[in-house]
Amino acid sequence: SNYQAEPWKIKMVEPIRQLSRPEREAAIVQAGYNTCLLDSRDVYIDLFSDSGVNAMSDRQWAAMMVGDEAYAGSASFTRLADTVRAYYGYPEVIPTHQGRGAEHILNRMLVRPGQHCPGNMYFPSTRVHQELNGGAFHDVIIDEAHDPSTVLPFKGNVDCDKLEKLIAEVGANNIPYLALGAPVNMAGGQPVSMANIDDLRALTSEHGIPLILDAARAVENAWFIQQREAGWANASIAEILRAMCDRTDGATMSAKKDSYANIGGWLGLRDAELATQARGLVVLFEGLHTYGGMAGRDMEAVAQGIEESVAEDNIRARIQQVGYLGDRLAAAGVPVMQPIGGHCVCIDAAAFLPHIPRERFPAQALAAALYVEGGVRGVERGMISAGRDPDTGENRTPNLELVRLAIPRRVYTQAHLDVVAEAVISLWHNRDSVRGLRFVHEPRYLRFFQAHFAPV
Ligand code: F0G
Repeated sequence: SNYQAEPWKIKMVEPIRQLSRPEREAAIVQAGYNTCLLDSRDVYIDLFSDSGVNAMSDRQWAAMMVGDEAYAGSASFTRLADTVRAYYGYPEVIPTHQGRGAEHILNRMLVRPGQHCPGNMYFPSTRVHQELNGGAFHDVIIDEAHDPSTVLPFKGNVDCDKLEKLIAEVGANNIPYLALGAPVNMAGGQPVSMANIDDLRALTSEHGIPLILDAARAVENAWFIQQREAGWANASIAEILRAMCDRTDGATMSAKKDSYANIGGWLGLRDAELATQARGLVVLFEGLHTYGGMAGRDMEAVAQGIEESVAEDNIRARIQQVGYLGDRLAAAGVPVMQPIGGHCVCIDAAAFLPHIPRERFPAQALAAALYVEGGVRGVERGMISAGRDPDTGENRTPNLELVRLAIPRRVYTQAHLDVVAEAVISLWHNRDSVRGLRFVHEPRYLRFFQAHFAPV
């Protein structure tokens, strides 16, 4: 095969174990059929998230030892801010404990009641922060992103016609910013092209609308631009990342993804006045503007992680591993979201379990069944994650009803991914045995994290 060996070797290991099938059956009942509520000790291969679960390098651990834990003016913050400026290019850097901390501050500053927040598909924490500030989310992603089978190189792109239509309808003054996810998590990690970012820059500039990047996995997006977009094949990942950011006014960042850190984040801005306002808020909600909820050592780990994230061989190995799992499943006939994205493989649960109606939550049921089958933990990305419409109280019914298998970076071997593939394929052959679910307990916000279910 042309599978290339990883550009690192393993220096520290963490034991994992597989429970017996009866133990797994008991564990999922205990967890209310919600993989979010499983004890991680009961999980064999954990593909719940790629966030905060990455293996740090020896360089990152070493950097943590020299973290400056000063309350004010930490040298580790200086290193972090300089690194963010160098690689992402935002002159103003406000540290936060993780991505949603940056989203909280940004939305509190920008969004007013009655305003409209366009984005290329939603991310749950982003949308809830928009809604908590009285905004209404509008999906302006291309239609194809909502279809699991259409193959497009940049399936995360914004449909500029949809955006222009929204601007014409509500007026640019009522659009506080455009949230650009690149790649798009909820669409299975689908990337956005540089051409699309160029178009968005032109359109938003014309109307005076800030363009804010969700940079959580922007390095993965840069990889797809380098591989797929004409004119970028000879640019480095670092150059492409910088070019993406240069076209935006700011970014919210979860350093728990691309940057290989267990915790951390930042808000990057160009506007000095807005940054002053953000520094005022960060003191209230996160911590002083020179640590923002991170320890000094966390800021060191993030800064070092940023440098590693743009290394071509690291990002190649990362995307290759995700593609390996996706291709194995597709080859066995398992319906997966196409094309395979950057951070996850998404199983199309509606196609996998056609006998379970949407209101019986096929993706939630499939995620629970996959845990029982192989001790593999994925997460629902469908009806449950989409939540209820705040105005009508009705369940939202997104087109995509997915089980996401997110791959942590530098954590699992190819053999682990074979175990995952075999569990999914075995379940595929026994799919008729999977039953639908109903709510037993439904939390108000981000309900997928703490909901309980029972089979019907
Ligand atoms: N934006 C995107 C695109 C994300 O994927 C996440 C987190 C956030 C923002 C929020 O960042 O967790 O640091 O507060 N995604 C994780 C996931 C939780 O599993 O997809 P955070």
